[in-house]
Amino acid sequence: MEKMNLVSGMRSTGKLHLGHYMGVITNWVNLQDEYNCFYFVADWHALTTKYDNTQTLRQDKIDVVLDWLASGINPEKSTIYFQSKILQIAELHVLLSMITPNNWVERDPTLKDMVKILKNKDEDSNIQLNYGLLGYPILMSADIMALNGAIVPVGVDQLAHLEITRDIVRRFNNIYKTDLFNEPKPKLTQIPLLMGVDGQKMGKSYHNDIKISDDEETTSKKVMQCITDRTRARKDDPGHPDGCEVAFNYYKIFADEQTIQNVECECRAGRRGCADCKRQLGKIINEKFAPIRQKREELSKDINTVYDIIEEGNKKARTEAEKTLQKVRDVINI
Ligand code: TRP
Ligand code: SF4
Repeated sequence: MEKMNLVSGMRSTGKLHLGHYMGVITNWVNLQDEYNCFYFVADWHALTTKYDNTQTLRQDKIDVVLDWLASGINPEKSTIYFQSKILQIAELHVLLSMITPNNWVERDPTLKDMVKILKNKDEDSNIQLNYGLLGYPILMSADIMALNGAIVPVGVDQLAHLEITRDIVRRFNNIYKTDLFNEPKPKLTQIPLLMGVDGQKMGKSYHNDIKISDDEETTSKKVMQCITDRTRARKDDPGHPDGCEVAFNYYKIFADEQTIQNVECECRAGRRGCADCKRQLGKIINEKFAPIRQKREELSKDINTVYDIIEEGNKKARTEAEKTLQKVRDVINI
């Protein structure tokens, strides 16, 4: 039986953090054998909010791909490409925009949140809902439909967009009396969200993230900033791992079962100081990411090979998208 196509993208935010790694990338890596995977850098989507800040865009895009490759996304199995290199996606976006009612996108709750966040970040500027940002879910639909995506791994925040994609698929098939497109299914990530060192959502703009590509010293320093049990004053006070919001949570994610138990036991007994505890945690994280970081180092010294991989992926994705678009032009008679 032929494998189903799986499509997913990430905006070009630059170097990725451990939240991306745990929440998205490991998931992508594990799906590579079961599906025909198309993984792309959504650089057009990045422009929907960062259109006036593009100085680092090219570097950001390559940094994302470096993190993917170092983390085990395998170009022999998966197709890796830049969205903006597949012009068929833009063509499909135009065609889909013709059949998408305004109110479908206007009521998209994730879009509303994005606008709210933008407004909060920059109170003085006249941020408004640009036409391109309004089209965010339509562009996402074009990403998926052009590549015939059946499965779309996303986080919960993206479900609203994907619901619009399913609506657009039905409307397209209905209007043009065709069964060209299938409704794509979301595949929710099961892994719990990794918090930032300050206990807030991990994110680049919050300065609370640990990057996949951070060196060991930087990682250790950031781990030392992790929030611990706030009720604890001295190191021989009995601690509460459950109330240790960030540090113990990281243990649960990155350490082995035995270590987690030891930490829990010693902490409760007041036999473990938080500083030592976090020093050990930093070591564990550094050990886990050492091979990935080394691979990333090697890849960045051989950057032309990385560009070749992307070029190869662009070609494959373009061929697949062109097949779809030929059928689309036919059913529309354009
Ligand atoms: N909007 C997604 C995000 O921010 C990225 C994305 C763009 C995407 N196009 C997509 C994800 C198509 C899945 C399928 O995470
Ligand atoms: Fe958290 Fe470790 Fe401190 Fe216990 S000893 S509160 S687990 S950092």
